[in-house]
Amino acid sequence: MDSEVKMPQRRGVGLVLFPLPLQGHINPMLQLATILHSRGFSITIVHTHFNSPNSSNYRNFTFLPISDGFSDGQASTDDVIELITALNVNCVAPFRDCLAGLLSDEQSEEPIACLISDATMHFTQAVADSLKLPRVVLRTSSPSSFLVFIAYPILRQKGFIPITDSEQLEAPLPNLPPLKVKDISIIETQNPEQVYELVDAMVNQTKASSGIIWNSFEHLEHSSLAALRQEFGIPMFPIGPFQKVCPCLSSSSSLLTQDRGCIAWIDAQAPMSVIYVSYGSIAAMSESEFMEIAWGLANSNCPFLWVVRPGSVRGSKRIDALPHDFLETVSGRCCIVKWAPQQEVLAHPALGGFWTHNGWNSTLESICEGVPMLCRPCFRDQMGNARYVSHVWRVGIQLEKGLDRGAIESGIRRLMVSKEGEEMRMRALKLKEQVDLSLGNGGSSSQSLDSLVAFLSSF
Ligand code: UDX
Repeated sequence: MDSEVKMPQRRGVGLVLFPLPLQGHINPMLQLATILHSRGFSITIVHTHFNSPNSSNYRNFTFLPISDGFSDGQASTDDVIELITALNVNCVAPFRDCLAGLLSDEQSEEPIACLISDATMHFTQAVADSLKLPRVVLRTSSPSSFLVFIAYPILRQKGFIPITDSEQLEAPLPNLPPLKVKDISIIETQNPEQVYELVDAMVNQTKASSGIIWNSFEHLEHSSLAALRQEFGIPMFPIGPFQKVCPCLSSSSSLLTQDRGCIAWIDAQAPMSVIYVSYGSIAAMSESEFMEIAWGLANSNCPFLWVVRPGSVRGSKRIDALPHDFLETVSGRCCIVKWAPQQEVLAHPALGGFWTHNGWNSTLESICEGVPMLCRPCFRDQMGNARYVSHVWRVGIQLEKGLDRGAIESGIRRLMVSKEGEEMRMRALKLKEQVDLSLGNGGSSSQSLDSLVAFLSSF
């Protein structure tokens, strides 16, 4: 007789995560995956071929590619709304087949308990419902900016969008203080009607989900989170900033190769002397705006580290097109790269300020390191993020009046060498302390993460 008592195998909990394939969404989704893996969940990442993440940096996860319906080189971020709309159609069948396959694997040690989907991939709610799988949403932008999307129908009804009246730009937005009409998330696209449809679907399918995970923390956005709790009535988990909970850097999920040469350059600079300039992974500018930025930086006399991403200057693929007299003027006090190890740069003692487009990841990364910001938002949630940075948290100033070299030069001086800039830096350092408190033992994000783990384990 077999004397060995057969113990039932411990079955772990499996999670399927599905990111939107854009850099600003892939980073937080993979950070969340790393956080949840460290809490004992097994992780499967379902992803499109377009912008597929580098699986070799995540050996503990299973990666499953699905068809996104695009042929090679067909998908692009030139019109993000068109891209997201197409993904929400093209991915339905491949995603359903993939998920159904995972759920039917009865031998699995770690059966799938829940889907965590990017909010913009709204079609996943219907798929999850049809397979009787709970769906939790990850919203990668801020809770405050989501309130604007919720208000879209009413703003449209009241004639605030589309923004047609330039006289109205400075007017306050009803029920959304401190936002102004010009802070409404503007999304440029060929087909504006698609924006309303996408926002509507994203909001409704988020409402229909089992809960929302936010890359933010209570202290930063308490009133927006309270408003969302009241509006949605589903569990909310503000467990961020992910980038500080997660032991990994964004280099692991970077779609472009980060140029580490800039670290040697910044190592040689004086403490808090450098301004770092980056517009994230999507924003693009005209050649004339590019030249105003270049000369504004040159005339400020401040050392700068500038990310000029390929494709970020419309109609030009080359950064060596910068004029000779500019390069001569800034020689020895600048470093220009195509893509930087941003989190490391922001944490560097030589860094004094961040000129940002205020994508939510960049904004939070700056807050995490106590770095004050020069804000120049381009579109979407960036306008609202910039308003919160300058008027609520008061850790930055906004370049609101056009992008000309004179305004840039004085904006950089205000940030880097004035008393006003010094005060912003002090407030930024206080906010960084709040990040640490939130993530520490008993802090709000840490408690929220415990609740999320219990919630996901209950399915
Ligand atoms: C997009 C939207 O534009 C933004 O409004 C939304 O909040 C998130 O999705 P993106 O424009 O790329 O994102 O900006 P951001 O959210 O700041 O994300 C950029 C990410 O790329 C950051 O995590 C940043 O650390 C990283 N990055 C950026 C680099 O690693 N190197 C760089 O040189 C620049």
